[in-house]
Amino acid sequence: MDLQHKVFLLLLLLPFHVLLITAQTASQDFTALSSLTQSWKNKPPNWVGSDPCGGNWDGIRCSNSRIIELKLAGLTMEGQLSSAIQSLSELDTIDLSYNTGLTGTIPREIGNLKKLNSLALVGCGLTGPIPDSIGSLKQLTFLALNSNKFNGNIPRSLGNLTNLDWLDLTDNQLEGSIPVSDDQGPGLDMLLNTQHFHLGNNKLNGTIPRKLFSSSMHLKHVLFDSNNLTGGIPSTLALVSTVEVVRFDRNKLSGPVPSNLNDLKDLSELYLSHNGLNGSLPDLTGLNKLTYVDLSYNNFNSSSDIPLWVSSLPELTTVILKVNRLSGTLNLTNSPSKSLQLIDLENNLITDLEPRTDQFSFDLILIDNGICRENGASELTYCKVSQIVPSYATPSSNCLPPPCSDNQIASPNCKCAFPYTGVLESRAFSFSNYSNTSYYKEIEQTLMVSFQEHKMAVDSVSLSNPRRNSSTDNFQLTLNVFPSQSDRFNTTGVLSVAFLLSNQIYKPPEYFIPYIFSGLSYQHFGGESKGSSSSNTGVIVGAVLAVLVFLVLALLAGIYAIRQKRRAKRSGGSNPFANWEQNKNSGTAPQLKGARWFSFEEIRKYTNNFSEANNIGSGGYGKVYQGTLPSGELVAIKRAGKESMQGAVEFKTEIELLSRVHHKNLVSLVGFNFEKGEQMLVYEYIPNGTVMDSLSGNSGILMDWIRRLKVTLGAARGLSYLHELANPPIIHRDIKSSNILLDDHLNAKVADFGLSKLLVDSERGHVTTQVKGTMGYLDPEYYMTQQLTEKSDVYSFGVFMLELATARRPIEHGKYIVREVMRVMDTSKDLYNLQSIIDPTLMKGTSPKGLERFVALAMRCVKEYAAERPTMAEAVKEIENIIALTGENPNGESASNTETYEEAGQGKHPYVTEEFEYSGIFPTTKVEPQ
Ligand SMILES: *[C@@H]1O[C@H](CO)[C@@H](O)[C@H](O)[C@H]1NC(C)=O
Ligand SMILES: *[C@@H]1O[C@H](CO)[C@@H](O)[C@H](O)[C@H]1NC(C)=O
Ligand SMILES: *[C@@H]1O[C@H](CO)[C@@H](O)[C@H](O)[C@H]1NC(C)=O
Repeated sequence: MDLQHKVFLLLLLLPFHVLLITAQTASQDFTALSSLTQSWKNKPPNWVGSDPCGGNWDGIRCSNSRIIELKLAGLTMEGQLSSAIQSLSELDTIDLSYNTGLTGTIPREIGNLKKLNSLALVGCGLTGPIPDSIGSLKQLTFLALNSNKFNGNIPRSLGNLTNLDWLDLTDNQLEGSIPVSDDQGPGLDMLLNTQHFHLGNNKLNGTIPRKLFSSSMHLKHVLFDSNNLTGGIPSTLALVSTVEVVRFDRNKLSGPVPSNLNDLKDLSELYLSHNGLNGSLPDLTGLNKLTYVDLSYNNFNSSSDIPLWVSSLPELTTVILKVNRLSGTLNLTNSPSKSLQLIDLENNLITDLEPRTDQFSFDLILIDNGICRENGASELTYCKVSQIVPSYATPSSNCLPPPCSDNQIASPNCKCAFPYTGVLESRAFSFSNYSNTSYYKEIEQTLMVSFQEHKMAVDSVSLSNPRRNSSTDNFQLTLNVFPSQSDRFNTTGVLSVAFLLSNQIYKPPEYFIPYIFSGLSYQHFGGESKGSSSSNTGVIVGAVLAVLVFLVLALLAGIYAIRQKRRAKRSGGSNPFANWEQNKNSGTAPQLKGARWFSFEEIRKYTNNFSEANNIGSGGYGKVYQGTLPSGELVAIKRAGKESMQGAVEFKTEIELLSRVHHKNLVSLVGFNFEKGEQMLVYEYIPNGTVMDSLSGNSGILMDWIRRLKVTLGAARGLSYLHELANPPIIHRDIKSSNILLDDHLNAKVADFGLSKLLVDSERGHVTTQVKGTMGYLDPEYYMTQQLTEKSDVYSFGVFMLELATARRPIEHGKYIVREVMRVMDTSKDLYNLQSIIDPTLMKGTSPKGLERFVALAMRCVKEYAAERPTMAEAVKEIENIIALTGENPNGESASNTETYEEAGQGKHPYVTEEFEYSGIFPTTKVEPQ
């Protein structure tokens, strides 16, 4: 290191000392915070210096020089919670929600934070058991650990949290039984002040203890859905007169419903579906606040006719009784209550209806009952209707939405911006009239009021894609929150919006309660605002000094940079790309759009010196590293190995090609490096891994049918762009499930144009090349003739579609999927006779809508003769039609929900592909694809 460098570094250290003189933060808190967050990535950019309290660090609030709040929801932070947290002993509030990169366990030392009032760790990547020591946080009123991967039992010690109001452990992997107090220790029955027991979506077993409920409790929401609970519903539940929402659905409960349930005069929503409950329908007469009842998928029978309460309770909107064994007459002669929107009795044994008419002011569904099997019955509305959720998206408010650049979205006020996005989810939506947009409007309004009340810089909100998640019954809406001050939020903005939603400070209309918000990490941080001004002169002096030092530093850095550049120029003669920047306009200069040149040094810095920890994959061509640009943007850097290095000309061609394609369904190139015997491509980082990982269950992303359709559509649109809109057109040559990535909205993005070929005009039609591609996806015609056309991509795409429908690899146990589907497919049969080959997880419940057409399209894509295959544009159209058939909006956002929180498969990476190269000779041995 020469003298210049030393002086430079010395100066870099200076401002810390200057600020230290006026520090507002108790030193033990600064030390603890530094130690806690030392290895965290993507901390707020204004965490500079050593004075969190005096420096107005984002997400931190202090009182008397001690840190009392750590509110860091919605960033992209990565790291672990260490025991150092215990030293922040004045903490009142912790919220680290929606940082999916926050992993590891909760340290038991958290129990030393005796003043903690609110602990929110929603939607992180935390694992391990919930430590017993949480039971010693006696001041706790709000505890939200939902949507992580906690396992083990619910600690008994939670019973000691006598001030607790909100307990949310939903959506983890907790097992064992629900603890109640006994001679072994405390239990949840002691939580007399708690209003919320949210324990759904775990693996809890055993019975619901009788002892859990008593008349001294204040429970409002009792949510135990989607567990493995057995036995009967305890009659003690009826003692808790404050209960408003009960969800015991999706368990293994059996026996009759206790007859005293109609003591629960405040009960508004009752979900008991998907159990083994039996006996006659419970008597809910007198429950005058009841709005929504779902008793479907049980073994209820009726000794006589359907009881009257089904239509007459004054607030009742929805009664779902489908798939039971209810018989007799449905009597609707006493004019049903005005509030009624839906009675669903599908698949029962109803034989008669009084009065026999089609004219009701609500939806009645009697499909699959005796009454609908009578002659001519199939024409009656109640034998035909089936419920779908119509699409909705907040309309623009009297303005014309402008066209927005790539990733920006137009707000309802017609401003292009990067919104903060997530899923707003009701755990007990009490309506079924989904086409009444007043519900959505009211949510939009109340959200805006809440943001305004809390003085947040929000321009507007939009809701879209209403949907009922069939595996949880939760009602979901995609929420976009648009910034008002510029086209993006700063850190403070995101933190405050996320906190308002993660901590239940926003209160939606009654019918949406209880709700949960699942935020996505915000990737678009822009210019940081300065911390708010403070009257403390010490701080001002510190700030002025810091600014002065900064100016001096900037000046020095400028001089330093110029010198470095000069030096670089002197030694840069051998670089064939050296003249790229200078003669942009000359005919021979490569045409780059958007992509930029990174120096080796820069990339080395971004990847921690190509550390093992940053290595996220490797393959025939070399290695892939994750890197972080100074802007905080994550990138994936593909570094070619010695053997796979291309000639400078080819490399240049590839970069030109990659930098030319910009489409929301294509992974974009951020930049490249070519020097010192290196060839590197810098891509945007796509967080949710490959479709292959998701299909094989490695990523934890739930690939339900709708999502598969949307992924197919995205990939098709990306390819169609390459074929039809890129100029010159591009043939991808290696379409496969491991080359289709999922972004944080679970949109499909086509990756890896490494094998792509430009179709230069003179060759329009086809190019003759050495055969490249991946076994199992390869177009046989191309194989034999070596003539490459767009239709070769169409073939591979067809194989990809079959993979999605079957969740099988193209070649598995020596069997080729195209041939297997051809073998069993029979279009004259139900579901085209595909039951044996379709992914069994798609076949749970009703069979996926449009599946036949989907497979038929795939089979057209894999036709032997290229001419018989559709173009990608035609495929896009057909997929859009199929999606419309399911009632979804093909142009809507990809459905995303809490499942996306599960981390993408460890150690696997999108860019890892292994190509097989052939030289025109058929391989004689079978090669299993990777
Ligand atoms: C549910 O409990 C049964 C035994 O009652 C057990 O066999 C099964 O594996 C459990 N399922 C889950 C998902 O824990
Ligand atoms: C209800 O189911 C239980 C078993 O879960 C059975 O013992 C009982 O006889 C059933 N009762 C009726 C009325 O079907
Ligand atoms: C639609 O919902 C609103 C708001 O909840 C309600 O006041 C209104 O009566 C509903 N309209 C219809 C036609 O159901």
